[in-house]
Amino acid sequence: MAELQGRRALITGGASGIGHLAAETFAREGAEVFVFDADGESAADLAGRIQAQGGRAAWVAGSVAEEEDVRAAFELLDRELGGIDILFNNAGISDNKPTLEMTAADWDRTMDINLRGAFLCAQEAGRRMCAQGSGAIVNNASIWGLAAAPERMAYTVSKTGLVAMTKVLANEWAARGVRVNAVCPGFTNTPMIQSLVERGKLDPTNLTKRTPMGRMAHTEEIVDLVLFLASDRASFITGQAIAADGGWTSYAFLQDWLDAR
Ligand SMILES: NC(=O)c1ccc[n+]([C@@H]2O[C@H](COP(=O)([O-])OP(=O)(O)OC[C@H]3O[C@@H](n4cnc5c(N)ncnc54)[C@H](O)[C@@H]3O)[C@@H](O)[C@H]2O)c1
Repeated sequence: MAELQGRRALITGGASGIGHLAAETFAREGAEVFVFDADGESAADLAGRIQAQGGRAAWVAGSVAEEEDVRAAFELLDRELGGIDILFNNAGISDNKPTLEMTAADWDRTMDINLRGAFLCAQEAGRRMCAQGSGAIVNNASIWGLAAAPERMAYTVSKTGLVAMTKVLANEWAARGVRVNAVCPGFTNTPMIQSLVERGKLDPTNLTKRTPMGRMAHTEEIVDLVLFLASDRASFITGQAIAADGGWTSYAFLQDWLDAR
């Protein structure tokens, strides 16, 4: 039996990377999917491919940071899918730079998409889920929601805030049948990471050395956790932020050990 048969799932940032694979996986598991992404062309391509394989998919172009776009997206979702059972709050950006070089506009952009966008979508989804007495929200945080590193100020604060949001909403909506959890992926080989590597903001060799398992995550390894948390198998799990990071957050870095590898 498909894991998400008959469920209606909204995936923000579903046109690329982790969200893209989540949309394909949810559809394969029987869900009707709705992709909400700033990149309408890629979202439309994805929805078309899912439909061609016999699945049910719709899409909308817009920004999760804009209240009007979010409201319009949920109105379209209501018309196309008739409601929502799963929200994967996944849209996000990463802009590593030294804090002394950060502008207020840099700060706002990251917070607007990673935190405000997640709040706006969770609120719209929560309205519908609380009214129907069921639903699952999975927020895509990061290892930077659990730990900190230099030159990731806005991203780290936004993802730490997203973990806090997860706990607040889980407590607030538990009695209404709505579960809220977060995944905290380690470095995962998606266009987001490729762009940081290309811009010289990330060294993949050091990165894999620093990871106890010695590699980045495969996108499937993150999406499997998202699928689990969205499914009824996780029926007693709420308010959790779970890392899939190859041991990253459990490892207290030792330079000698790194040099010897
Ligand atoms: N890749 C990693 O290593 C990694 C690790 C930890 C957490 N994450 C988180 O996972 C999520 C997805 O990352 P990814 O690596 O798949 O990135 P990605 O860049 O491949 O995909 C992000 C998607 O979000 C969309 N998006 C960006 N701004 C948007 C907006 N304002 N409104 C709607 N859509 C918007 C983009 O168009 C894109 O389709 C992000 O929240 C990211 O912070 C990624």
